[in-house]
Amino acid sequence: MDHISDRRTFAIISHPDAGKTTLTEKLLLFGGAIHLAGEVKARGAARRARSDWMKIEQQRGISVTSSVMTFERNGLTFNLLDTPGHEDFSEDTYRTLTAVDSAVMVIDAAKGIEPQTRKLFEVCRLRSVPIITFVNKVDREGRDPFALLDEVADMLALDVCPMTWPAGMGGQFEGIYDLVDNRLLQPEAGTKDFQGKVEQFTGLDDARIDEVLSAEGAERLREEAELATGGYAAFDGAAYRAGDLTPVYFGSALKEFGVDSLIDAIARHAPPPRPQPAEPAPVDPTDDRVTGFVFKVQANMDPNHRDRIAFMRLCSGTFKRGMKLTPTGHGKPIAIHSPILFFARERELADEAYPGDIIGIPNHGTLRVGDTLSERADVRFTGLPNFAPEILRRVVLKDPTKTKQLRKALDDMAEEGVTQVFYPDIGSNWVIGVVGQLQLEVLLSRLEVEYKVAAGLEMAPFETARWVSAADPADLKAFTDLHRSAMAKDRDGNPVFLAKSAWEVGYIADRYSKVAFAATRER
Ligand code: G4P
Repeated sequence: MDHISDRRTFAIISHPDAGKTTLTEKLLLFGGAIHLAGEVKARGAARRARSDWMKIEQQRGISVTSSVMTFERNGLTFNLLDTPGHEDFSEDTYRTLTAVDSAVMVIDAAKGIEPQTRKLFEVCRLRSVPIITFVNKVDREGRDPFALLDEVADMLALDVCPMTWPAGMGGQFEGIYDLVDNRLLQPEAGTKDFQGKVEQFTGLDDARIDEVLSAEGAERLREEAELATGGYAAFDGAAYRAGDLTPVYFGSALKEFGVDSLIDAIARHAPPPRPQPAEPAPVDPTDDRVTGFVFKVQANMDPNHRDRIAFMRLCSGTFKRGMKLTPTGHGKPIAIHSPILFFARERELADEAYPGDIIGIPNHGTLRVGDTLSERADVRFTGLPNFAPEILRRVVLKDPTKTKQLRKALDDMAEEGVTQVFYPDIGSNWVIGVVGQLQLEVLLSRLEVEYKVAAGLEMAPFETARWVSAADPADLKAFTDLHRSAMAKDRDGNPVFLAKSAWEVGYIADRYSKVAFAATRER
């Protein structure tokens, strides 16, 4: 097998509490990995510093930082990218989803599609990311499986195809039936825990089903399974890969039911690395020249170092340690001597990596989210935008002698994509912009803990921002001259119009038809 078709790079999307963390742990366990990358063990002072910086995560019980976990199974390499699971939509999450080839959508059987599931799903749909659905927690009382499937179909406008079926749920739970392979995964007698017991049948009419299930359970399973296979779309690999159909698996991450089938499903059906959108033309993974893009920059994985790790998704070619790659559009070639591969056991030094793999590149701030790195100078990956912030705040420094540190901190965090920063053309109060409320808390906490800068945030007279441009520089100048008090520069010096409201954006955009007001910006 080559090193492209054996890669499965995916993420799990879900609403908080649906079971993403539990499922992640079980996937790693089944994949033979024991240790979560990104939770590198630290000792003594280092651990305390780390836990300081993780304070928000702990208080809110959420994972703010995303990490990469790689595991191998049956000759395939799985790269699981963790998406932050909190309620706020974050740019980080969006960008992580640009780096995967497929996703697993975890749904709580008692709750169905929840708001965050839906938002993340929409992000996947934008890029036609194929989705496998995992209905979790069937060991507990849940909703009727048919109602759940119909909800997925209706709310997400997807064809659904049940691949497994729960033999009862909650108190009546007797196992999971695999509709494709006609196997039944059963709990150990008297418990709801899966002990690896699998019964093989010839089909649903196999009389042995009556021996292993209660009479009532067998009757219900046959009835429901027949309705399920007849009532929904048949599995169609092409429709799944196009993002039009989702195969559905039932299970319990906690009790380890159905996790095996889920990995097998990813192995069997999920696409290997796909061509990535780029200019001048999409890049095919079989292209010999190494290309990749940075989708995330993370600071302080080791709090003793100011280094950051840029996470690059490799899109083509065979990466070898020490290789020189050039960030397109800026900078000189960088020799990548100590790349990190996120094998779940350890953060291993990578000697070679292949399309679909994620490489961590330590750097001092040269690499930014959205950067293309390649052996060729003529390619740029597209579709990694900055989003117009929905919340703008003025940063107020408590100690005026710390201006330089504050600027450094804001620039750093803007580079990481944690927040955006805008420097108004008039006045000295810098404005930061975020897409979700939680990012504000992250910002303040990190200013204090990492940069030792005490700062507060106050309301800004602006509600949103738009990047402005015009074909004729004279048109742009005419506009900015008249709106000087609302003009600012972003981290890269691009002009930004700070608007009082979305309504104002519409009003102004109508009046200045030669000026473009962009809600996203690609580097
Ligand atoms: P998240 O990352 O999506 O937020 O969810 P997480 O895995 O943390 O799971 C949320 C809660 O749901 C946890 O319970 C977890 O044990 C439980 N859970 C996950 N999968 C299953 C399942 O298949 N069946 C059942 N019955 N429960 C499941 P908790 O009480 O909040 O935390 P804990 O104290 O158990 O860790």
